[in-house]
Amino acid sequence: MNKQPKHVAIIMDGNGRWAKKQGKKRVLGHSKGAKSVREIVEAAAREQIEFLTLFAFSTDNWNRPKEEVNILMKLLVSSLKKEFKRLIDNNIRLCAIGHLKSLPVLVQEELLFVIEKTKENTGMVLTLALNYGAKEEIVEAVKAIADKVKNSIISPEKVDESTIIEHLYTRNLPPVDLLIRTSGEERISNFLLWHIAYAELYFTKTLWPDFTKEDLQLALINYGKRERRFGKTSEQLTL
Ligand code: FPP
Repeated sequence: MNKQPKHVAIIMDGNGRWAKKQGKKRVLGHSKGAKSVREIVEAAAREQIEFLTLFAFSTDNWNRPKEEVNILMKLLVSSLKKEFKRLIDNNIRLCAIGHLKSLPVLVQEELLFVIEKTKENTGMVLTLALNYGAKEEIVEAVKAIADKVKNSIISPEKVDESTIIEHLYTRNLPPVDLLIRTSGEERISNFLLWHIAYAELYFTKTLWPDFTKEDLQLALINYGKRERRFGKTSEQLTL
């Protein structure tokens, strides 16, 4: 049996479909989705998950209607303001990954404020992936390494896995153990490509606004039954 995963990452999908099913605007799905974020963050901390990473806004999400993008940004600012005290009460440290400089200034300010205020917290690390794309992350890392090679700071022969990790946005995160995607879609959608190399994948048909702490527990139980071999044989694991 696996013990609890150390790092859980979630692609929170299905807000729009949830709203459509209720005959409501997509926006309502996002605000209900923000409530699920609150429930799952607290539940994950209670389950002793050390790292929780949530895909909150991808680099491709800018292509959505302007009104929806604006509402998602506003929801982010209001959620950060509202949840700040709960993060402190639960000893949770907030981090963010992605091209943060292109986010609206208000989002950047609120984010930096909460990151700063929670930086001494020693409990779960909650990372929001915002304006995040894994291919872009790898391109940025390659550029930074190439620059160091050009300036003779690193020699090309010395470039290894750890050099790459050190230049990713996700450099402070351990590998993902369990990746959950809601809403029935079975895709990775450019999320954490490097860090999911050996992750267990868990897909559920439940739409994100309906995803509860009980659904998280089901995913953790399912993870506990998986055999993680990392290239070895089953027999080698039992030696
Ligand atoms: C996917 O549903 C969800 C998103 C693009 C955004 C996730 C945002 C939230 C859960 C709300 C606020 C977040 C935080 C961190 C407070 P979708 O719109 O793609 O759904 P669909 O595929 O059914 O259209």
